[in-house]
Amino acid sequence: MTSQALRDARKYEEVTGQQIVDEERPRFHLSARVGWMNDPNGFSFYQGQYHLFYQYHPYDSHWGPMHWGHAVSRDLLVWEYLPAALAPDALYDRDGCFSGSAVELDDKRQLLMYTGVVKEPCPEGGTREVQTQCIAIGDGTDYDKCLENPVLTRADLPEGGSPFDFRDPKMWREDDGTFGCVVGNCTEDRDGRVLEYRSGDGIHWSFERILAENRGRFGKMWECPDFFRLDGKDVLIVSPQDMLPRGMEYDNGNGTLCLIGGRDLKTGKFVEEADQAVDYGIDFYAPQTLLAPDGRRIMIGWMQNWDTCNMRWEEKPWFGQMSLPRELSIKEGRLYQQPVRELEALRRDRREYRQVLVNGERRLEGICGRIIDMEIVVRPADKGDMYHKFAVRFAGNERFHTAVSFRPHENTVKLDRKFSGSPRAILHQRRCRVDSRGGELKVRLILDRFSAEVFVNDGEQVMTATIYTEPGADGITFFADGEAVMDVVRYGLG
Ligand code: FRU
Repeated sequence: MTSQALRDARKYEEVTGQQIVDEERPRFHLSARVGWMNDPNGFSFYQGQYHLFYQYHPYDSHWGPMHWGHAVSRDLLVWEYLPAALAPDALYDRDGCFSGSAVELDDKRQLLMYTGVVKEPCPEGGTREVQTQCIAIGDGTDYDKCLENPVLTRADLPEGGSPFDFRDPKMWREDDGTFGCVVGNCTEDRDGRVLEYRSGDGIHWSFERILAENRGRFGKMWECPDFFRLDGKDVLIVSPQDMLPRGMEYDNGNGTLCLIGGRDLKTGKFVEEADQAVDYGIDFYAPQTLLAPDGRRIMIGWMQNWDTCNMRWEEKPWFGQMSLPRELSIKEGRLYQQPVRELEALRRDRREYRQVLVNGERRLEGICGRIIDMEIVVRPADKGDMYHKFAVRFAGNERFHTAVSFRPHENTVKLDRKFSGSPRAILHQRRCRVDSRGGELKVRLILDRFSAEVFVNDGEQVMTATIYTEPGADGITFFADGEAVMDVVRYGLG
C-alpha cells in the first residue's frame, strides 16, 4: 500500500526532477533526483540491474525528513531514476527512514532494512531520536513496510547500548540461506561499536554479538558499518563521527575507517590486524558495498562530507552526489580501490604523450576537459637529481584551478581546491602519505562536472573532492619544480 506521503513525494520528484537539465547534473555520478541526497542505501544487484537507494529529502536541497530515493543501472554509471521507495509515513519511522541495506529473498522479492526514527522529548528538555530497525519488502519498485516493524528495538541492544544511536543496518546472506547484519551503535558515552544480528528469514532477528568496539580510538559514534570478506580477510568499514587527526592517516570530523582482520574462531569477534582511512580527500562518507554477480566487491560512497556541505550553489534544485563505484581488493594488508572497469566503455577521444619533460609549467595540445579519465606516470628526469614538486592543475582558466601535487621528498600527495571558485572558509585541501618509489608516481584522475577523484598508485590511496568551478574552466596544465618526465593518457568520457 502506497501512503499519501509517498505518493506526494513521487509526484513531486517526477514533476520537479524533469525540470533539471542533464548539463546541470554530473555525467556519470548519481545525483539527487531533486532536493537533497546523502548516504547510499540498499546498494545491491537485483533482477538483472544494480539498485541504488539513497537518503533523500525531495522537497528541499537541504537535509530534512528522510525518504529513500531510488535509481537503477546496468553499468553502475548511467542511472535511471525510479520512484522514491520509502517515505517517513509510519508511527515507527515518522521522523525519518534513515540508512539501511537490501537483500534478495528466496521468493525473489527484495527486502530492505532501514532505521526508523521517532523523536521523543528529553527529560532535560528538547528532543532526542529513538532509532529502531525496520523492514520493507517489495518487487524492485514498490515496497510494503512489514507488520512486524520495528524488528530490532532497544530491547535488542546489549548492555550499555544507546537507543538514540542505533542505526544503519547492513545485511548479507550466508551460504546456508540465513541472514546476518551489522548495525552501528555506541555506548552511553558515545563510544562507537558494531553490533551483529542473525536471522533465519530476514524478518525475525536476534542479537549475536558485539562484533567490534572503538574503545576511544577512532572518533565517537560509528555510522554506516559494512562487513564483508575480501581476498581472504574480513573487512569492517565504518564512518566514525567526530574524529581527531592522527598523523596524516585520519583527519578531523566525519571520517571513513577500514579495519582489516579476521574473526576470532572461538568468540566470533572481529580481530583487527590493520586500520586505514578509506578515502584521503575531502568529500567521501558513509560508503556501502555490494557483491557483484561476477564476484567483484564494489563500493560507493556519498561524495560529500557533513562539515563541508556549505560548499554548494544555493540556486540549484539538487544537492548531493555519489562517488564513482570502486572495485575493492586487498594487497599486502591494505585496501585498494579502482574505478569500476565499466568506466572504460565510456572512454573516447584518446590523447597520449610519452616521455614529456616538465620543468616549470607545461601545457599539452588536446589535454583538457572536465569529463575525463586521465592517467599520468611521473618520474625524475635524472634519478640523481630529484624534482621537488610535480603538479597537475585542472578545471582551470585564468582565475580558477584545482590541483593534485606530489612532493617526492615528503612522500605526500595533496589535493587542493582552494582556487576552484569556492567562496566559503572551509576545508579545501588535504594531503596523504604515499609510496614515492624513487620519485615515480602513478595518478589516475577522474573528472566529472562537479568532482575530482584521484587514484594514486593503482588505488593504494584515493582522494575525492567536489568542485563547483564554472563549466568553461576545462584547462589542464602540468608543473614541475625541478626536472620531471611524464607519460600521459587522457580520454574524454561520453
Ligand atoms: C550518515 C547518517 C546515518 C543516518 C543518515 C541520516 O551520514 O548520519 O548514520 O542513517 O545519515 O540521513
